[in-house]
Amino acid sequence: MQDKTSIHGAWTSRWIFILAATGSAVGLGNIWKFPYITGENGGGAFVLVYLCCILLVGVPIMMAEVLIGRRGRQSPINAMKSVALEAGRPQYWSLVGWTGVLAGFMIFSFYSVVAGWVLFYIAGMGVGDFIAIGSADAGSVFNDLLGDPQTLIIWHSIFVMMVMLVIVGGVKKGLENAVKFLMPALFFLLLVMLGYSSQTEGFAAGWDFLFHYDPSELSWDSVLVALGHSFFTLSLGMGAIMAYGSYMPKKTSIGGAVIWIAIMDTLVALIAGLVIFPIVFSNGMDPGAGPGLMFVTLPVAFGQMPGGQIFGFVFFLLVGIAAWTSAISLMEPAAAWLVEKFNWHRIPACIVLGLIVWGMGIAALGSFNFISDVKLLGFNVFDFLDFMTANIMLPLGGLFIAIFAGWIITRNIVANELAISSPLLFNAWYIALRFIAPIGVSVIFVLNLIEKLK
Ligand code: TRP
Repeated sequence: MQDKTSIHGAWTSRWIFILAATGSAVGLGNIWKFPYITGENGGGAFVLVYLCCILLVGVPIMMAEVLIGRRGRQSPINAMKSVALEAGRPQYWSLVGWTGVLAGFMIFSFYSVVAGWVLFYIAGMGVGDFIAIGSADAGSVFNDLLGDPQTLIIWHSIFVMMVMLVIVGGVKKGLENAVKFLMPALFFLLLVMLGYSSQTEGFAAGWDFLFHYDPSELSWDSVLVALGHSFFTLSLGMGAIMAYGSYMPKKTSIGGAVIWIAIMDTLVALIAGLVIFPIVFSNGMDPGAGPGLMFVTLPVAFGQMPGGQIFGFVFFLLVGIAAWTSAISLMEPAAAWLVEKFNWHRIPACIVLGLIVWGMGIAALGSFNFISDVKLLGFNVFDFLDFMTANIMLPLGGLFIAIFAGWIITRNIVANELAISSPLLFNAWYIALRFIAPIGVSVIFVLNLIEKLK
């Protein structure tokens, strides 16, 4: 049991695991969503609550996912099953892995559509389509894109292929090579952008917008947003991190690695804010533009600034890389399971998965045009997928993972896998996992539902 390895291979080193998991965590959630929800929820006070959520709920649950994955050494579905059986518990705990795979498909389908927009903007920036564009024109570029299924399908298809090309290579030749190259590129591009934004006249205003501390702007609702986002941004609740954990070297400390991942994910989110807001303020634009911030406001800002074509291109390239390394982790659990279950090569597994998510993505992108009148629970298909996953499936998945690691399997198994030498630290983690995280997640889950459905 101790020295079991995954049939899919293993990361070469501890740092590769950290890079891969950071690649999963750092995505559209950090660069697009975090800056704008921070702006809307009181800046500094919100950031503080968000940091508490990451530390008290995110980090403990992430450690649980990694330890289950490494103990089981299989795809989330089979890892949950084998760890449950090892602890003498019913194998039905694999259901948590199943809902995770389903959530992965659902997130992928809308994620790929947004990533497709990003690819469209990389190309557009590259050929100079946005030079000196006004806000009305930038708005119509985005709306025309949404209304044009053919163009959307082309970019969505390209993104699906990019992701499957990496997964087909397997853990070492595919995932490891991709993150080894893409993550340093991402950090480098982010620093280039930060260097640029720090020279703009709006930098002080951007800094202030993110970090001014005004607790009066913080509402109970903001706390919910912070909790929910800490979940999404760390890729928790569906087994992505569990799958990556199953390829982790045995001797590596799980707690240490997870702290690094959480720190890097948080830093990228904060730096993304420090890139976006100064550019927005320097151009006298509205920071609270919401979803349009990245696709309408920023292109206008880039269009007006000297060298904006190059920086705009670099910026969207950065977002594209972040989305790419995240999307890989959404499909790896399902790919690993197909290989384990049917003894398939990765090629047919990726073709099957690629076709499924490609079809689901077309339904998601159709929400903006040819099936815009199709409603599920009052949402269009795109918003339905977003709502069901972020507000229901991920919190529930995280809750069950916390319960499983905290209450169902034995303390022996978790203590042995984590190998934390300080009893104080171990107990702090165990209390967070058994009490704070499940109670916190249940509260967000219920309040979110009441909020959304009323
Ligand atoms: N964390 C990614 C982001 O912030 C999204 C993501 C990737 C994700 N894999 C996940 C979210 C698994 C939940 C579960 O954009």
